[in-house]
Amino acid sequence: KRLIPLLTGLVLLLSGCGREDLSTLNPQGPVAEKQLDLMKLSIGIMALVVVVVFAICIYVLIRFRRRKGDKSIPKQVEGNHTLEIIWTVIPLVLLLILGVPTIKDVFGLAKDYSKDKDAVQVKVTAHQYWWEFEYTDYGITTAQELIVPTDKKISFELVGADVKHSFWIPSIGGKMDTNPGVTNRMYLEFPKEGVFRGKCAELCGPSHALMDFKAKAVSEASFQRWVTAMKAPAVMPADKDLAEKFTSQCLSCHAVGENGSNSAPNLTGVGGRQTIGGILYNDAEGGAEKNIHDWVTDPQKYKSGAMMPSAEDNSLTDADVSAIAKYLAGYKLDY
Ligand code: CUA
Repeated sequence: KRLIPLLTGLVLLLSGCGREDLSTLNPQGPVAEKQLDLMKLSIGIMALVVVVVFAICIYVLIRFRRRKGDKSIPKQVEGNHTLEIIWTVIPLVLLLILGVPTIKDVFGLAKDYSKDKDAVQVKVTAHQYWWEFEYTDYGITTAQELIVPTDKKISFELVGADVKHSFWIPSIGGKMDTNPGVTNRMYLEFPKEGVFRGKCAELCGPSHALMDFKAKAVSEASFQRWVTAMKAPAVMPADKDLAEKFTSQCLSCHAVGENGSNSAPNLTGVGGRQTIGGILYNDAEGGAEKNIHDWVTDPQKYKSGAMMPSAEDNSLTDADVSAIAKYLAGYKLDY
């Protein structure tokens, strides 16, 4: 009986707390599908080799073991051309079966769409511990939630702002390192509408495991509406005092619309995002307003090592934080 809660806990732990699928075994796009095919092929060949070698080994150990009373020395073999040809040709054939599709897919998946007029160009900058997405053809920047159209190739330019991170959307494809000073490229396709969870896949500091983002695939029409909404003039707080406080305290690092700086996550339409900080889900009780309030009050509580100062260090009272949370939670984009 004592085992039941323990086992339940273990199952919950292994299930990874649900939400969007982080499994590479359930691909939602052609890139992840090809990567999974390669994984299956290589694991299949390796499993075959292991099974055959172990079977021969065990058979030989039992069949040719020293029996009671047997003092003779076994027949000494000084080489066998037939056997040597067999154990050279079999690995060669296996390597060809593994190598040809691997090289074909690895080069195919490394295709550069950065000059392709039909592809959507996104510059990804990884920061400790958040993601910046700049749509270079549209002149817009967002954070934590990557919005993409379903019917296009998305061409990524990947860099790191501080240390090495790695960009990975397990069910869609990847992963690729984002390094400071070096530009890596890759492309992905999102054939189905939906929200897919992304992770940082390179140990980058105390909050590495919390460096999540969302990729949201929408129809082309919806994507265009989102672009238009992103380019619209910023919605500022209606209250004049609040607008002043928000501008001086928040927009010195963050941006909304054309206002502010992009050294911290862009907050345009933040109230409509699925999460705050990639980890606080807005469908929980209290919604985005509670999440923003809690986050702004003490970011270190949620992401240790985050650059954002606490409300206290920002000289914001709890009433200020509540007013800012209310305004930001209501700032949603229609698309
Ligand atoms: Cu960024 Cu790990």
